[in-house]
Amino acid sequence: MKASKTSSARSSRAKAPATNGTTASIELPPWVREPKRLLINGKWVDAASGETFATLDPSTGETLCHVPAGDKQDIDKAVAAARAAFESGPWRTMTSSERGRAIWRLADLLEQHIDEFATLESLDNGKPRAVARVADVPLAIDLFRYMAGWATKLHGSTFPISVPYAPGARFFSYTQREPIGVVGQIIPWNFPLLMAAWKLGPALATGCTVVLKPAEQTPLSALRLGELIQQAGIPDGVVNIVTGLGETAGAALAGHPGVDKIAFTGSTEVGKLIVKAAAHDLKKVSLELGGKSPNIILPDADLETAIPGAASAIFFNHGQCCCAGSRLYVHTKHFDTVVEGVAAAAKKIKVGPGMSADTEMGPLVSEEQLNRVMGLLKSGQAEGAKPLAGGARHGKSGYFVQPTILVNTQPGMRVMEEEIFGPVVCAVPYTDEQEVIQAANNNIYGLAAAVWTSNLSKAHQIASAIRAGTVWVNCYNIFDAALPFGGYKQSGWGREMGAEALELYTETKSVCIRL
Ligand code: NAI
Ligand code: MG
Repeated sequence: MKASKTSSARSSRAKAPATNGTTASIELPPWVREPKRLLINGKWVDAASGETFATLDPSTGETLCHVPAGDKQDIDKAVAAARAAFESGPWRTMTSSERGRAIWRLADLLEQHIDEFATLESLDNGKPRAVARVADVPLAIDLFRYMAGWATKLHGSTFPISVPYAPGARFFSYTQREPIGVVGQIIPWNFPLLMAAWKLGPALATGCTVVLKPAEQTPLSALRLGELIQQAGIPDGVVNIVTGLGETAGAALAGHPGVDKIAFTGSTEVGKLIVKAAAHDLKKVSLELGGKSPNIILPDADLETAIPGAASAIFFNHGQCCCAGSRLYVHTKHFDTVVEGVAAAAKKIKVGPGMSADTEMGPLVSEEQLNRVMGLLKSGQAEGAKPLAGGARHGKSGYFVQPTILVNTQPGMRVMEEEIFGPVVCAVPYTDEQEVIQAANNNIYGLAAAVWTSNLSKAHQIASAIRAGTVWVNCYNIFDAALPFGGYKQSGWGREMGAEALELYTETKSVCIRL
């Protein structure tokens, strides 16, 4: 994607082709038509270069509006503002209770604007508005409330110490948890608001300050959230929001010497670039990266829940989930029944623009993602994989892909090894439990997994044998602000959510006093 200088080339209407052949015109919320600026030090400003880029409606490819193309100069200013807000000013002197209440107010404001945010997520990302309304936005609200509660509960411990080379001396020793400092947060486009919440929540609870760079495909909800952050009374400079491209604004943030920590969610490829960029001054890094999550159906599973569960494991959010259940291992006893059931579910899914009330699956986020997924589908089919449902693009405009189930896949095929990030599942039969565990673990990723069984001890055994950060049993895609989420292996470093997330935003200081 390229930034370009634009004046007022904004379209006020997005045309969304409905799947029944008619074309529904969507009235954009007035906020979308207002000029977009960067949030730096509590002020809304243009990019230093004056450049902007377009954000699109993925169901049509039409421009929704333009946002500033922030770059190094803007990142420099935002980092300076975050540093000043961290070192002096009201954020530092606020009590933890006041900080917690500000985060809670942000959650309340988000709740008051729940419909507006669901619309923004649907327009910018393409996801069904109804899904954003019940999942993305409520999860973001809940995350802020959960983290608001932590603000007053971060504390160290006291220790009796026995120093062998100081016989007879007495000490009083304790630890305290301190905010890590200025955090650069780089987020993806699959859950734009929720990923902003996962990042901002723990940073604010611990007293850090932030420069947030939303994904270039979906900048809108973060910018609107910036306005609510101000209304919530979070002081100027605590949260700075710089929209821009990954290679420019993102790279400038990842390598910035004024940043103490980078928190990144996105591709494993860019995760490795972040680590390199952060290496020169050893900033702390947390990464939430890709996955190729195995979903295992045992012979004793209840198929009435396992079949719809396997379908929603991959088709939720159009497969654009880092934890999508993209490798479906089914015992031979049930293989035909399960793949037929998942194929039937795939064929029934109503694909269409996210803003249509009856849509169950929207478009992929961008033409780039459409081409990536279509390329992988082509490669799989060329190598002998067979679609039982889907396998092709849906329609001729917008970035829609048919919900797809592939059989006849072999280990080593790209569709079996790589993250597809689209509505495509590879179904594989197995007979031996140990073999399926090995196959499940035989991948560079280790983000999530699931097992479907009615045998309690098997559930625990397999949960323990799978090398992944989350294992769901008889369910999939269950998220909660209290439940840590993150990856083994190349799926990342560290955990988001839960008390674990706070570890990544704090330093522990040991204080030792001779009495
Ligand atoms: P990406 O990793 O390029 O983008 C994620 C974020 O990183 C965006 O904010 C982007 O602007 C930023 N970024 C890109 N290059 C950067 C750089 N050199 N330095 C700093 N920041 C940079 O992901 P992309 O290209 O949008 O999607 C490609 C694939 O990545 C997908 O097909 C999927 O497999 C995976 N992905 C995984 C996600 C997850 O939740 N783990 C989310 C999005 C994508
Ligand atoms: Mg990219």
